[in-house]
Amino acid sequence: MSTPEKTCSFCGRKQSEVKKMFSSETTHICNECITTCSSILQKEVRFEQRSAMQQQLPTPEKIVEFLDKYIIGQLDAKKVLAVALYNHYKRIENPVYNNVELEKSNILLVGPTGSGKTLLAKSLSKIMQVPFAVADATALTEAGYVGEDVESILSRLLAAANYDIELAQRGIIYIDEIDKIARKGESSTMGRDVSGEGVQQGLLKILEGAEVYVPVKGSRKNSTTETVLFNTSHVLFVCGGAFVGLVPDSHTKKSNKVGFSKTAEKGEVKEKKIDAKALVHYGIIPEFIGRIPVVAQLRELTKEQMVQILQEPDNALIKQFQALFDMDGIELNFEPKALDAVAQKAIDRGVGARGLRSIIEEAMLPLQFSCPSKKNLQSLTITEAVIEDPTNEPIYVYKTKEDHAEA
Ligand SMILES: Nc1ncnc2c1ncn2[C@@H]1O[C@H](COP(=O)(O)OP(=O)(O)OP(=O)(O)O)[C@@H](O)[C@H]1O
Ligand SMILES: [Mg+2]
Repeated sequence: MSTPEKTCSFCGRKQSEVKKMFSSETTHICNECITTCSSILQKEVRFEQRSAMQQQLPTPEKIVEFLDKYIIGQLDAKKVLAVALYNHYKRIENPVYNNVELEKSNILLVGPTGSGKTLLAKSLSKIMQVPFAVADATALTEAGYVGEDVESILSRLLAAANYDIELAQRGIIYIDEIDKIARKGESSTMGRDVSGEGVQQGLLKILEGAEVYVPVKGSRKNSTTETVLFNTSHVLFVCGGAFVGLVPDSHTKKSNKVGFSKTAEKGEVKEKKIDAKALVHYGIIPEFIGRIPVVAQLRELTKEQMVQILQEPDNALIKQFQALFDMDGIELNFEPKALDAVAQKAIDRGVGARGLRSIIEEAMLPLQFSCPSKKNLQSLTITEAVIEDPTNEPIYVYKTKEDHAEA
């Protein structure tokens, strides 16, 4: 007598009709019913996440407070972003409020190299309660050319939203290096060739709000041709770029340097406001500028701010090196003058805070090489001289007097 074939207690399909059947003593469930149940559960979790988001809407001040942990200075840009984010959350919940339709205001971040634009974008993604994607304008190409097309930015946001289209349509996209797609125009020394304009044209429609078919790459169903209709009306776009040479130096007339002028005022650097005309002159098409109404400027970092960057953020460079030495039981110190020297070197290199890491690495490499084999080394202190010339010795302190003598 053969045992009857198992049937799924949920959908009634026979074992032979499905891939896998899971059984307890009395009931059975097939793989397909498990998938269905699991997706229902996931939807519920997402729903809970969304309502949690509404409850803990961070105020602009809280957002700035959070950003302060990672980014030194740049208060103006932080405030602009915080307000934009806060409004974005509100708009998502109430696209129309008291019969007023709330429109988004995309943002442009402009600031010299190494002043924290990309860092701001990345830090934002840590507090975002909505899906957030970062894209690089330099990787974008006009439709039909090799490279990423504009829609790929949207697929990235969709992925960040775990393929929940509703959620993705309320996300935020940061497009970095937007100045690199300036067309070569009146000031033909900058920007790339004409195709940059093509990319700008391509971005226009999604910036403003359009319905675009987006491929669902890497979706669980794994069919590469699957697309979904993506409405970008409520997606907030933040664009960032260095725009080298954009701001004419109006404060120090004698200086022949074009760029972000330095007029120190209570530690901050004052700059001339960037206007739409200057951006057009740079090679950004007027239609594009019209779709990014908010411009926030980041400032060239001062020496004091560079020193702060070295030691204050949660993952400050100095803290990282101290952690590395601590693992070997060695205490690492920097004399204040050494930090000053690092900051000055970075300023001289003209690459903003981006230069700090390589300067510290250069100074620390010989020490990272030699210190682990020094017996009973308790601490070392980096002096200005070590920064000036890494062949100079730092100050060593040993655990016992004898080791001191040996060294
Ligand atoms: N304001 C800042 N506070 C803390 N760290 C900073 C700041 N600005 C820059 N840095 C440091 O410098 C590095 C480079 O900065 P970032 O990538 O944000 O520059 P950027 O403005 O995007 O420059 P670019 O125009 O060249 O892309 C960061 O990873 C960070 O370590
Ligand atoms: Mg950058």
